[in-house]
Amino acid sequence: MVVLKRFAAPEALFHAAALDFSQRAKQAVQDKGAFNVVLSGGSTPKAFFDALTSISACRDQTPWEHIRFFFSDERYLSQNSPDNNFNMACKYLFSQLAIPAAHIYPIPTHYSDPVEAAAAYSATLQHCFQLAPNTLPVFDLVYLGLGADAHTASLLPGSSVLQADHNQMVAALWAADLNMHRITLTAPLLNNASDIVFMVTGANKAPAVRSVLEGATDTNRYPAQLIHGPITWYLDAVAAEQLDDNDKSA
Ligand code: 6PG
Repeated sequence: MVVLKRFAAPEALFHAAALDFSQRAKQAVQDKGAFNVVLSGGSTPKAFFDALTSISACRDQTPWEHIRFFFSDERYLSQNSPDNNFNMACKYLFSQLAIPAAHIYPIPTHYSDPVEAAAAYSATLQHCFQLAPNTLPVFDLVYLGLGADAHTASLLPGSSVLQADHNQMVAALWAADLNMHRITLTAPLLNNASDIVFMVTGANKAPAVRSVLEGATDTNRYPAQLIHGPITWYLDAVAAEQLDDNDKSA
């Protein structure tokens, strides 16, 4: 099922998303003692993390010590680079809260071969979830962003990772337009999550939002269409602007 939540301004979107995160975490920890969440990269999460650390109900009542943090993808840069997603999450989230480092699972970027990094992260997931061979972990919640070109995570238009087979969890790719390697969770793994949340703001994303949600099915051109399952889209008004009226339910 796909639910659209539309907000007049980003501030209201991130406030609602932060309260939702905290509630989901509390429920998961109450039900099973843990909450396994995948964070997206890029710049949108910065405001989300700011909301998580500044809203007292989130900061003070979320069971941070029982949450394990994973990443949807990574720019293959040093973790010291401000463009590295783990670096960003450390700055805006982890450094603001007493989250045990042992519960944070960054995608490694120190291997000379990015393919080795992808294999290492896959092994990390297998260990964390005590997986039987050829089984995929079930993340409680996956956060995803959307690029203006309709990519999500590092599932880039026309890239080979779009055809990952059902038991490949993590892949490496060369992003020619970005002149860098990327490591990404694959669509089969992302789709295995219990819940998925897209957070998208900004008028520059409106065409991609419309293409993904209302355009012709073309996953090679609009990779975010590969994502299925219980999905909630958090959209601000300008990102939702090109959607049909009947899609603008708040
Ligand atoms: C990344 C991402 C990517 C991001 C979108 C949106 O590493 O860049 O994970 O999928 O979520 O490109 O990026 P912005 O939030 O910066 O618009």
